[in-house]
Amino acid sequence: MRRSLFVLLLVMILVIGTGVAAAQTRVGVAMPTQSLQRWNQDGAYMKQMLEEAGYVVDLQYANNDVGLQVSQLETMILNGADILVIASIDGSALGTVLEIAQDMGIPVIAYDRLIMETDAVTYYATFDNYMVGTIQGQYLVDALGLETLEGSVNIEITGGSPDDNNARYFYQGAYDAIEPYIKAGKVIIPSGQVEFEQIATLAWSSERAQARMDNLIAAHYSDGTPLHAVLCSNDSTAIGVTNALINAGFDDDEFPLITGQDCDIANVKNIIAGRQAMSIFKDTRMLAAQVVKMIEAIVNGEEPEINDTTTYDNNVKIVPTYLCPPVFADINNFEELLIESGYYTREQLGL
Ligand code: BGC
Repeated sequence: MRRSLFVLLLVMILVIGTGVAAAQTRVGVAMPTQSLQRWNQDGAYMKQMLEEAGYVVDLQYANNDVGLQVSQLETMILNGADILVIASIDGSALGTVLEIAQDMGIPVIAYDRLIMETDAVTYYATFDNYMVGTIQGQYLVDALGLETLEGSVNIEITGGSPDDNNARYFYQGAYDAIEPYIKAGKVIIPSGQVEFEQIATLAWSSERAQARMDNLIAAHYSDGTPLHAVLCSNDSTAIGVTNALINAGFDDDEFPLITGQDCDIANVKNIIAGRQAMSIFKDTRMLAAQVVKMIEAIVNGEEPEINDTTTYDNNVKIVPTYLCPPVFADINNFEELLIESGYYTREQLGL
């Protein structure tokens, strides 16, 4: 729809609707997909916490379809959203619809993923993305004993989606942690694929990560060359890589160390089974609660709590950000972190 027409339509609806205007604040929550566990949890927590605080919530999932997310946002605006919370699919694709939100004075909170190339984004709340990568990379440094290692280990890298601004932060944090050991000749990447563009996985797809790993195994490891670790940016890519290794017949005693992120149930089960070494626990309850606090502040005309005003440049402005801390999870602490904290039940993890 042309922008001017859209705004006209909105004004008409608002004028007609003023007599019955709801007193409650309406919050539109746009999530990328239901196909990944974490976004279901993020959406459910947001809805529950906002409703408990008395807001009217319009929660939508867009099936990783950018066009669908745009039209969901248009509908939210048409339906009178007062605030938008958006976990974008393609961070650079929302400029036009968000100009409408800006014209209407609707604050926009970027949820978990930064919205790029627009000044219509008001605040950003996320986990410290660079730190996620640092924890993953440092884990491999420690677990492979790189500091004192004589000789070398072979690793491969699997990254996230190039249209997600977070993916480069994860990659950079992890790469910076292992780079000194690559330079020292202690870490070899037999495929030679090390640039972000070479290791990225569109849409964080397990299937794409698996297909790429199938190719890497066939080209570089089918002659028995050992593979000691695969640095995977998140759990959905880790699942693809793990499946490729299982299909290629890697036994338990030669299974590489695999990193991940999100503590998805399937991956925690793999940690328990010894098929994934670690994951990052991003407590979505914490992020959702922080965003609800941001919304409360905005509604009360106050400044929300911000703890980073320098890092997140979306190519138009630096977006004021609240960073939650990511936490390391592995076989030794998952019970305390995930079960005792009430995040999962033992049954969910098959225990
Ligand atoms: C999130 C990760 C998630 C990935 C895939 C990223 O933007 O920060 O937690 O694993 O998207 O959905």
